[in-house]
Amino acid sequence: MSEERSDVLVLFGATGDLAHKKIFPALYAMVARGTLKEPVVGVALEDWDAKKLAERAHDGIKAAVGQVDEAVFSKLAGLLHYVSGDYRSQETFDKLRDAIGGHRHPLYYLAVPPSMFEPVVQGLEQAGGAAGARLMVEKPFGRDLQSARWLNRVLHLVFDEKAIFRIDHYLGKEAIQNILYFRFANSFLEPIWNRNYVESVQITMAENFGVEGRGRFYDEVGCIRDVIENHLLNILLLLAMEPPIGRDADDLIDEKVQVLKAIRTLTAHDVVRGQFDGYLKEPGVAPGSTVETFAAVRFMIDTWRWQDVPFFIRAGKNLPVHATEVVVQLKRPPLAVFDQFKRNQGNYVRFRIAPEVAIGIGARRKAAGDEMAGEQVELSALDDDKDEMEPYQRLIGDAMNGNAQLFTRQDASEIAWRIVGPVLDDKSPPAVYKLGTWGPAEAMANFAPPNGWSDPGG
Ligand code: BG6
Repeated sequence: MSEERSDVLVLFGATGDLAHKKIFPALYAMVARGTLKEPVVGVALEDWDAKKLAERAHDGIKAAVGQVDEAVFSKLAGLLHYVSGDYRSQETFDKLRDAIGGHRHPLYYLAVPPSMFEPVVQGLEQAGGAAGARLMVEKPFGRDLQSARWLNRVLHLVFDEKAIFRIDHYLGKEAIQNILYFRFANSFLEPIWNRNYVESVQITMAENFGVEGRGRFYDEVGCIRDVIENHLLNILLLLAMEPPIGRDADDLIDEKVQVLKAIRTLTAHDVVRGQFDGYLKEPGVAPGSTVETFAAVRFMIDTWRWQDVPFFIRAGKNLPVHATEVVVQLKRPPLAVFDQFKRNQGNYVRFRIAPEVAIGIGARRKAAGDEMAGEQVELSALDDDKDEMEPYQRLIGDAMNGNAQLFTRQDASEIAWRIVGPVLDDKSPPAVYKLGTWGPAEAMANFAPPNGWSDPGG
């Protein structure tokens, strides 16, 4: 694959939900910033044309941004083309080749279910469209180790690993990039960022809404596959990795893979599963489904740096707030000279990922008064830059430029499945939790970091 920027973006699944909600708003923002000037060819089964696709895109953009800048939109509409056809029919790919015309370096974006990856890459190859191209694939990347391996084999029949961009939109978030930057652009963290000072790490991704009409999809996936195996495990890697030796994509990914290799494969004792009350009545959910909508998981990393430090991840639907946060809790001072304080107080580093981006450092200080008694404070840096780039914008741009740093490499995609494999598809019924609570209270009673859970505020 050459280093050239892709000269056309081909979007498979152009009429789908993801394109509507995320991809077209991202393309619109790219046009507004002047970072997208290449043609965009939508492909899908629907018998639409470019005009209909543009109308649908307008609708999605309006829902995402409120007020659409029509001048920007008409530039985007001017870039749009549409090819209608079945992904299993070679005719579709022949039509696509004609639509692409003289462009030699397409980025093919597969915003389609993984079952469609094989016919699409084969169709592309047979139409002579794979050489010089890049391929971006959406999650879920398989549903277990075996299927991920199979998908990798399918993609590799046609595309080199260097041309494949497996997307995890979390890696495109400003706040997630900030974890990496904050860790390795400061020197004060490094001496304490290890088993000698860190007591535990916890990552919470709370959503105060349910499956929002995605019952059928969600019921085949569940919380561990949906967000833990990918988004949240990726956050863990950024927290746990060694400093990369450089800024190349492989420098970074090599260090993440080292951590992945050292993470113990989960057992049933490392997981608490829950299901929100009423899930079984959601449209698309199978009767008696045992799929979890909440999971809390303990990961252990067998390295010198992290031996015996538990990394907890907790995620769920219909929890009390919509927020994602990381807390790296430091051990207490060896002796309480002045006063005792609660276990989740004292020193910690808190990364607030959403809804705001912030970094906070927990500390004790003396409370005003006669006594040497303390109070808890947090020194925090809130990033209120309203011009934050949305993940899809950043990631589509990176893939077009061939920058793989924020994408998942084959080995990482497979090792992550190895780690969670034994706890997927547990058919025992998960404990039911009430809407707006932090998961199944009884099941969670004895499952927490040593310093307890820190519930993010809304
Ligand atoms: C998606 C999951 O990958 O991430 C959803 O399928 C989840 O279930 C979403 O709601 C969360 O992403 P974000 O960026 O809105 O926090």
